[in-house]
Amino acid sequence: KRGLKTNFMGHDIHYFNEVDSTNEVAKYLAEEGAEDGTVVVAEIQNKGKGRRGKTWISPPGGIWMSVILRPEIPPHRASQLTLVTGVVVAKTIKEELNIDVGIKWPNDILIGKKKVCGILTEVNATLDKVNYLVVGIGIDMNVDVPMLPSDLQKGATSLKNELNTEINGALLVQRFLQNFENIYNDFKDGKFPEILDEWRAMSSTIGTSVEVRTRGKRVQGYAVGINKEGILIIEMEDGSLRKMISGECLHLNK
Ligand code: BTN
Repeated sequence: KRGLKTNFMGHDIHYFNEVDSTNEVAKYLAEEGAEDGTVVVAEIQNKGKGRRGKTWISPPGGIWMSVILRPEIPPHRASQLTLVTGVVVAKTIKEELNIDVGIKWPNDILIGKKKVCGILTEVNATLDKVNYLVVGIGIDMNVDVPMLPSDLQKGATSLKNELNTEINGALLVQRFLQNFENIYNDFKDGKFPEILDEWRAMSSTIGTSVEVRTRGKRVQGYAVGINKEGILIIEMEDGSLRKMISGECLHLNK
């Protein structure tokens, strides 16, 4: 916390050696009224959650963190914050560690073709407004890839494995929170289109063939672009266009 130069992001920071899931802790704190920019970090997660109900393996050495956000937005804009967070993570890794990263739709951060970070956003909203969001960020920082379960090793990398050196986690989290505050303020100031430009510039999805799953269905096509709302446009084999909202948002309340 020392050295954190933000106005609100991470001012309320809850640090744990071990939790089941930082997203679950953050949701609990949000229900108790925790403020915009509250952060939960843990050394280890015993039941880390990935997208689509998967387990997120969270050994020591990773950054397992959740941020509570309370933007005043309608529910259909909630998924935009996953894209915003992806830009923040990608930018931070790029600027601090000089590693070339790509963003895979909607929210995987890749080095080459290997995943180094995943984002799981959970939304609590009514029909007309978002109450809060919990944005969960998992970065394989000082994780040794050979220590991961064998089925994950091929598709995963870590910052340590890429650079062959241990990363200063406290510093990286600090820089991340500073970037997050700046870009989140831009988002609140109506600058989502500019943030999307950055997303586009780092996208490893646009201009490639993709398979996207929504509600269990697999859709194949070619990613032609992302529109100003943050919706991915896919051209199907018959030439028709389809829109894809990032599918990872779990809506908790009706
Ligand atoms: C994915 O499947 O790509 C998303 C992974 C998200 C993992 C992070 S780690 C911190 C936060 N707490 C969780 O339980 N999950 C997210």
